[in-house]
Amino acid sequence: MLEEEFDFITEVLESELRPYKDSHKVYRNLPVEGRSHSEILAEMRELSSSEEGKWKDGYASGAVYNGDPYHTDFLSEVYAINSQANPLHPDIWPSAIKYEAEIVAMTASLFGGGKDGVPSVCGTVSSGGTESIMLAMRVYRDWARTEKGIGEPQIVAPLSAHAAFEKAAQCFDMELVKVGLNDRWEADVDAMRHAITARTAVIVGSAPCFPHGIIDPIEDLSRLASEAGTGLHVDSCLGGFVLPFARQLGRSIPPFDFHLPGVTSLSADTHKFGYAAKGTSVILYRDARLRRYQMYTTTTWMGGLYYSPTFAGSRPGALSAECWAAMIAFGQSGYLKATKAILEAADQIKEGITAIDGLEILGNPLSVIAFTSPEMDIYAIADAMTRRGWSLNGLQNPPAVHLCVTLRHTIDGVVARFLEDLASSVQEVKRIPGTLGVMTPIYGMAGAIETRGEVQELLLRYADLQFKT
Ligand SMILES: Cc1ncc(COP(=O)(O)O)c(C=O)c1O
Repeated sequence: MLEEEFDFITEVLESELRPYKDSHKVYRNLPVEGRSHSEILAEMRELSSSEEGKWKDGYASGAVYNGDPYHTDFLSEVYAINSQANPLHPDIWPSAIKYEAEIVAMTASLFGGGKDGVPSVCGTVSSGGTESIMLAMRVYRDWARTEKGIGEPQIVAPLSAHAAFEKAAQCFDMELVKVGLNDRWEADVDAMRHAITARTAVIVGSAPCFPHGIIDPIEDLSRLASEAGTGLHVDSCLGGFVLPFARQLGRSIPPFDFHLPGVTSLSADTHKFGYAAKGTSVILYRDARLRRYQMYTTTTWMGGLYYSPTFAGSRPGALSAECWAAMIAFGQSGYLKATKAILEAADQIKEGITAIDGLEILGNPLSVIAFTSPEMDIYAIADAMTRRGWSLNGLQNPPAVHLCVTLRHTIDGVVARFLEDLASSVQEVKRIPGTLGVMTPIYGMAGAIETRGEVQELLLRYADLQFKT
């Protein structure tokens, strides 16, 4: 790529990242005198309300899963009550310990744990899906080293597994073996079988995966893991709080949890379809023996005896309190109602996409709907959607985009608006092939080996920019 093109894309990205730089005071030092609360709150309200439309009116894929003002006001109140809590100090905040233990128990009961399932299922609360996955992968590394004598443990995962597995492999010096998908966009079980070696600590399946919203054949993977003596992590971060309720609503959901004997861990994000505020997820293990590998303990530190279950030391107890409150406030009936509304909206969207000439849905998803176009540039269509206010997720290998349906899309008129905008975006791209946005050039470069390095540089520049004032 030419340096000018590179600079142009960086400039576009920068303007998106820092829209306030000319309109609001920029702090590079602490203000000499503190500002008044009312001023600060007024400024924040202004910034927040200028950003709200996008997610509130259902233009975003995923991102905000609930967003109902009644619910968010309730969570804010819960935060305010618990704002000082830190589970690192159980003696001061036993309430935080109660909330977290109950979050884990309630979540376990949804996935085949508890007294009616496998009673030994246990877990911890983490800060999000990525942390849950990273914690689990480090557990398997240490479990494999300690109990199986594997010096350099491998993770075997389908290509559709979340980037967090790659991040974990990178951080914990593990090898990630990526395996192709079958023609239904599921993990290819035979290929997974062939990929397992004597060094494999854990195999991975998603329920469902982020890119295409497809549930992997977890029952087969469970058999495979049991035969091979490896762990099996089920990544249900995205769908964990949808699938159990979808099943109760009569949808055909294959077995994917601890009812299957080979499933040794499962991640489910409360901060997605659990409708908690951002910052919590649950990582579950088949038994406490495995969970032990997650705990950090020291008996020799000058600072005294110390342990912590997750990567952070101090943690925001208020977020766990919010999560507990969200779960209790929704209850089973609330999650059923929400799931019903999401699935109905997703059904209409799938039907509508299928009816648009030139578009094709990938596989048979439930409510994370990936689609592509065999004849048009799907990224140009996504860019046309961006110009209409939408924020869809770009996918690659193959080129596609997805819409993760949330409660924001169940609001009156949102589904119809999405389908109308999509149909007119397709017409626009048919009329004027080519693109006016950044998705096509960026994904085009990411798709070619010669330019992939430049895209990586672009991502790093973007990351650097986030901390520029
Ligand atoms: C299937 C899946 N796993 C893991 C994650 C990572 O979750 P987080 O962004 O909370 O770290 C996501 C996020 O969308 C996901 O969809």
